[in-house]
Amino acid sequence: MSSEHDQHEASNKPPSRKEMSRRQFLTYTLGGATAYMAAGAILPMVRFAVDPILQHKGEGTSVKVAEISKITNEPQEFTFELQQQDGWYLSNASLVAWIRKDEQGKIYALSPICKHLGCTVGWNSDKNYPDEYHCPCHGAHYDKEGKNLAVAPKPLDEYVVKEDQGWVYLGEIVPNTRVK
Ligand code: FES
Repeated sequence: MSSEHDQHEASNKPPSRKEMSRRQFLTYTLGGATAYMAAGAILPMVRFAVDPILQHKGEGTSVKVAEISKITNEPQEFTFELQQQDGWYLSNASLVAWIRKDEQGKIYALSPICKHLGCTVGWNSDKNYPDEYHCPCHGAHYDKEGKNLAVAPKPLDEYVVKEDQGWVYLGEIVPNTRVK
Protein backbone atom coordinates (compact mmCIF):
# COMPACT_ATOMS: atom_id res chain seq x y z
CA MET A 1 0.00 0.00 0.00
CA SER A 2 2.69 2.39 0.99
CA SER A 3 4.67 1.65 -2.19
CA GLU A 4 1.54 2.22 -4.29
CA HIS A 5 1.01 5.47 -2.44
CA ASP A 6 4.63 6.45 -3.04
CA GLN A 7 4.31 5.73 -6.76
CA HIS A 8 1.14 7.80 -6.99
CA GLU A 9 2.86 10.70 -5.23
CA ALA A 10 5.89 10.41 -7.48
CA SER A 11 3.78 10.64 -10.62
CA ASN A 12 2.10 13.81 -9.33
CA LYS A 13 5.39 15.49 -8.47
CA PRO A 14 6.56 18.22 -10.79
CA PRO A 15 9.39 17.04 -13.03
CA SER A 16 12.74 17.09 -11.36
CA ARG A 17 15.13 19.90 -12.06
CA LYS A 18 17.44 17.60 -13.99
CA GLU A 19 14.64 16.34 -16.28
CA MET A 20 13.45 19.91 -17.02
CA SER A 21 16.91 21.09 -17.84
CA ARG A 22 17.44 18.23 -20.31
CA ARG A 23 14.17 19.03 -22.03
CA GLN A 24 15.05 22.68 -22.21
CA PHE A 25 18.45 21.83 -23.57
CA LEU A 26 16.88 19.75 -26.36
CA THR A 27 14.33 22.45 -27.11
CA TYR A 28 16.96 25.14 -27.32
CA THR A 29 19.32 23.00 -29.38
CA LEU A 30 16.65 22.02 -31.87
CA GLY A 31 15.27 25.57 -32.01
CA GLY A 32 18.73 27.02 -32.52
CA ALA A 33 19.62 24.52 -35.22
CA THR A 34 16.34 25.17 -37.03
CA ALA A 35 16.80 28.95 -36.84
CA TYR A 36 20.38 28.62 -38.10
CA MET A 37 19.31 26.51 -41.08
CA ALA A 38 16.38 28.82 -41.85
CA ALA A 39 18.66 31.87 -41.73
CA GLY A 40 21.09 30.14 -44.07
CA ALA A 41 18.31 29.58 -46.57
CA ILE A 42 16.50 32.91 -46.19
CA LEU A 43 19.33 35.45 -45.91
CA PRO A 44 20.66 34.93 -49.45
CA MET A 45 17.10 35.43 -50.76
CA VAL A 46 16.69 38.64 -48.74
CA ARG A 47 20.07 39.86 -49.92
CA PHE A 48 19.08 39.12 -53.54
CA ALA A 49 15.78 40.97 -53.09
CA VAL A 50 17.26 44.16 -51.64
CA ASP A 51 20.57 44.16 -53.52
CA PRO A 52 19.66 46.97 -55.95
CA ILE A 53 18.56 49.10 -52.99
CA LEU A 54 21.87 48.55 -51.22
CA GLN A 55 23.94 49.25 -54.26
CA HIS A 56 25.67 52.60 -54.58
CA LYS A 57 23.57 54.79 -56.83
CA GLY A 58 26.52 56.07 -58.78
CA GLU A 59 26.40 59.53 -57.27
CA GLY A 60 28.98 61.77 -58.76
CA THR A 61 28.88 60.09 -62.16
CA SER A 62 28.51 62.52 -65.01
CA VAL A 63 28.11 62.40 -68.75
CA LYS A 64 30.04 64.30 -71.43
CA VAL A 65 27.40 66.48 -73.09
CA ALA A 66 28.77 69.48 -74.98
CA GLU A 67 31.94 71.29 -75.95
CA ILE A 68 32.51 74.37 -73.80
CA SER A 69 33.34 76.41 -76.91
CA LYS A 70 29.78 75.82 -78.22
CA ILE A 71 28.07 77.24 -75.12
CA THR A 72 26.66 80.74 -75.57
CA ASN A 73 24.72 83.24 -73.47
CA GLU A 74 21.59 82.09 -75.27
CA PRO A 75 20.25 78.82 -73.76
CA GLN A 76 20.70 75.87 -76.10
CA GLU A 77 19.03 72.50 -75.96
CA PHE A 78 21.28 69.42 -75.68
CA THR A 79 20.13 65.83 -75.66
CA PHE A 80 22.24 63.10 -74.12
CA GLU A 81 22.01 59.47 -73.06
CA LEU A 82 22.28 58.29 -69.49
CA GLN A 83 22.42 54.70 -68.27
CA GLN A 84 19.82 54.12 -65.57
CA GLN A 85 19.49 51.18 -63.23
CA ASP A 86 15.91 50.46 -62.17
CA GLY A 87 16.08 47.45 -59.88
CA TRP A 88 17.68 44.81 -62.09
CA TYR A 89 16.76 46.60 -65.29
CA LEU A 90 19.49 48.61 -66.98
CA SER A 91 18.34 51.01 -69.66
CA ASN A 92 19.44 54.06 -71.60
CA ALA A 93 17.43 57.18 -70.89
CA SER A 94 17.43 60.13 -73.25
CA LEU A 95 17.69 63.37 -71.27
CA VAL A 96 17.54 67.02 -72.24
CA ALA A 97 19.33 70.00 -70.74
CA TRP A 98 19.18 73.68 -71.54
CA ILE A 99 22.73 74.95 -71.20
CA ARG A 100 24.00 78.51 -71.20
CA LYS A 101 26.82 80.69 -69.99
CA ASP A 102 25.89 83.55 -67.65
CA GLU A 103 27.27 87.10 -67.82
CA GLN A 104 30.27 86.05 -65.69
CA GLY A 105 30.99 83.14 -68.02
CA LYS A 106 29.70 80.49 -65.59
CA ILE A 107 28.04 77.57 -67.32
CA TYR A 108 24.84 76.10 -65.94
CA ALA A 109 22.28 73.62 -67.23
CA LEU A 110 18.55 73.55 -66.51
CA SER A 111 16.22 70.61 -66.59
CA PRO A 112 13.27 71.11 -68.97
CA ILE A 113 10.80 69.43 -66.62
CA CYS A 114 8.12 71.93 -65.60
CA LYS A 115 7.76 72.23 -61.83
CA HIS A 116 3.99 72.50 -62.10
CA LEU A 117 2.97 69.06 -63.33
CA GLY A 118 5.97 67.79 -65.22
CA CYS A 119 5.44 68.79 -68.87
CA THR A 120 8.45 69.86 -70.92
CA VAL A 121 9.33 73.53 -71.20
CA GLY A 122 11.00 75.16 -74.19
CA TRP A 123 13.11 78.30 -74.52
CA ASN A 124 11.52 81.13 -76.50
CA SER A 125 8.81 78.73 -77.56
CA ASP A 126 5.90 81.16 -77.09
CA LYS A 127 5.92 84.60 -78.68
CA ASN A 128 4.03 86.04 -75.71
CA TYR A 129 6.96 85.17 -73.45
CA PRO A 130 10.12 86.19 -75.28
CA ASP A 131 13.42 85.17 -73.71
CA GLU A 132 11.71 82.88 -71.25
CA TYR A 133 11.09 79.19 -70.81
CA HIS A 134 7.45 78.41 -71.42
CA CYS A 135 5.37 75.36 -70.63
CA PRO A 136 2.65 74.54 -73.18
CA CYS A 137 0.50 72.61 -70.71
CA HIS A 138 -0.83 75.26 -68.31
CA GLY A 139 1.22 78.31 -69.20
CA ALA A 140 3.98 78.29 -66.58
CA HIS A 141 6.94 80.41 -67.55
CA TYR A 142 10.42 80.91 -66.17
CA ASP A 143 13.26 83.35 -66.67
CA LYS A 144 16.73 82.52 -68.07
CA GLU A 145 17.93 81.18 -64.74
CA GLY A 146 14.84 79.03 -64.29
CA LYS A 147 13.06 81.33 -61.84
CA ASN A 148 9.33 80.51 -61.79
CA LEU A 149 7.34 83.56 -62.90
CA ALA A 150 3.82 82.10 -63.01
CA VAL A 151 1.82 78.89 -62.34
CA ALA A 152 4.77 76.69 -61.27
CA PRO A 153 5.52 76.63 -57.53
CA LYS A 154 9.31 76.29 -57.87
CA PRO A 155 12.19 77.19 -60.18
CA LEU A 156 13.40 74.71 -62.79
CA ASP A 157 15.86 72.16 -61.44
CA GLU A 158 19.44 72.19 -62.64
CA TYR A 159 22.08 69.60 -63.46
CA VAL A 160 25.33 69.37 -61.56
CA VAL A 161 27.82 70.77 -64.09
CA LYS A 162 31.51 69.88 -64.40
CA GLU A 163 33.94 71.32 -66.90
CA ASP A 164 36.90 69.23 -67.95
CA GLN A 165 39.32 69.48 -70.88
CA GLY A 166 37.05 71.60 -73.01
CA TRP A 167 33.88 69.64 -72.31
CA VAL A 168 30.76 70.18 -70.21
CA TYR A 169 29.77 67.14 -68.14
CA LEU A 170 26.33 66.86 -66.56
CA GLY A 171 25.56 64.89 -63.43
CA GLU A 172 22.52 64.46 -61.24
CA ILE A 173 19.54 66.81 -61.21
CA VAL A 174 19.34 69.01 -58.12
CA PRO A 175 17.11 71.90 -56.97
CA ASN A 176 17.97 75.22 -58.59
CA THR A 177 20.87 76.91 -56.78
CA ARG A 178 20.81 80.14 -58.78
CA VAL A 179 17.41 81.52 -57.81
CA LYS A 180 15.11 81.27 -54.81
S1 FES B 1 2.87 71.23 -66.33
FE1 FES B 1 3.81 73.04 -66.91
S2 FES B 1 2.33 74.50 -66.53
FE2 FES B 1 1.40 72.71 -65.87
